Amino acid sequence: MSVVAVIGGQWGDEGKGKIVDLLAEQADVVIRFSGGPNAGHTVVNPHGEFRLHLIPSGIFNDHALCIIGNGAVISPTVLLEELEMLQAHAINASRLVISKRAHVIMPYHVLIDKLEEEARGDAAIGTTLRGVGPAYADKAARLGIRVGDLLDKDNLHAKLRFVLEAKNRIFTKVYGASPLSAKEIHSEYREYGKRLAPFIRETGAIVHEALDAGKLILLEGAQGTLLDVDFGTYPYVTACPTTVGGACIGAGLSPTKIDRVLGVFKCYTTRVGNGPMPTELKDDAGEAIRQMGHEYGATTGRPRRCGWFDTVAARLSARINGYTGIVLTRLDILDTFPSIKICTSYNVDGKALTDFPSSTAILEKCTPVCEELPGWQCPTTSARRLEDLPPQAQAYVKRLEELIGCPVDFISVGMRREESIAIKPIA
Ligand code: IMO
Ligand code: MG
Repeated sequence: MSVVAVIGGQWGDEGKGKIVDLLAEQADVVIRFSGGPNAGHTVVNPHGEFRLHLIPSGIFNDHALCIIGNGAVISPTVLLEELEMLQAHAINASRLVISKRAHVIMPYHVLIDKLEEEARGDAAIGTTLRGVGPAYADKAARLGIRVGDLLDKDNLHAKLRFVLEAKNRIFTKVYGASPLSAKEIHSEYREYGKRLAPFIRETGAIVHEALDAGKLILLEGAQGTLLDVDFGTYPYVTACPTTVGGACIGAGLSPTKIDRVLGVFKCYTTRVGNGPMPTELKDDAGEAIRQMGHEYGATTGRPRRCGWFDTVAARLSARINGYTGIVLTRLDILDTFPSIKICTSYNVDGKALTDFPSSTAILEKCTPVCEELPGWQCPTTSARRLEDLPPQAQAYVKRLEELIGCPVDFISVGMRREESIAIKPIA
């Protein structure tokens, strides 16, 4: 058996939830290794349609252990709501395990997220306002409250008192906002600790026992490589690693244990939030993609910015993650287009650029250089093998493989679990 990492290849919302739900049918363990409730993973399967923010998308497999790893940041309120939602659908969530080392998003993180975004004005990042960035900032500043702390009344009290004193100085003196009450937060979060206690464990040993037993482990990414705090379009990024390196850290396993790295890419590009997106279409074609694909954020409901597939960005993504294979999603959304473009390089001040630049200022000036392929103009959702696809769709997939330099292992042709083509299955 093996360890398979599922990584967002673009700016998030690539369909990681669908793919993890599909692959999890065969998995023993599924680990959400990073991010927090900023993620919105949509899953459509025989149990219904779900939007998961924190719970791994493998929760629908009755046999898979679903771990929220140390690299994630957890909002107890979002998590408890999600558990209730699953319960209402009679989904058994007793196999959920939360790492004691994962950090907790506190009320002051959500407030700081909002105040900082407002203070940025036109330069706002367009965060999901879930407190994710401030929670990771406190983790690095060694001020974080970890899930394990929620189980220890006195420890939580001491940490909270110390942290809140500093936060309240910022709220009152910098932002002119009201201070938060340590007492109220303490009793609220102690209560969450009690409710979540049955799920909270040391996950290191669990992961390593599964590895030793040769179990099939899926590492479920959140966000995407271009939102990675190091390799994304900084500062318009999320606050943690989203790449396969982050999977090792956030799940607590060695890079040598990972057998396959799957990069999930939409057959076009979307981005939600601010920051450069060279292939963004502000015309009818962009609007057509948005309408056909219902491209509105699963977490915030914001309309997603839409554009053609960007292979310059995808090559960076493939290089950093070392994808062994690609998962192409939402091919069916392109079914009606007479022709489809692929961005192969950028033009900056009359010069060609084939490597994704690190500078946001340069990216803002990039215009995409595209090649145009004929569309197939027929439905693809019933295809289950590559050969079932119309020749133009096969040619589109092949051209993306060539330009990214990586084979396509899976293609998604619809929202439902079974609307998938497995070229190289995982087991
Ligand atoms: P999934 O897992 C798409 C974006 C936000 C914003 C930036 C920073 O569904 O792919 P944050 O709240 O993380 O500080 O916001 O990152 N963002 C996402 N965009 N999909 C996501 O998750 C995202 N999570 C964060 O819109 O631009
Ligand atoms: Mg999403």
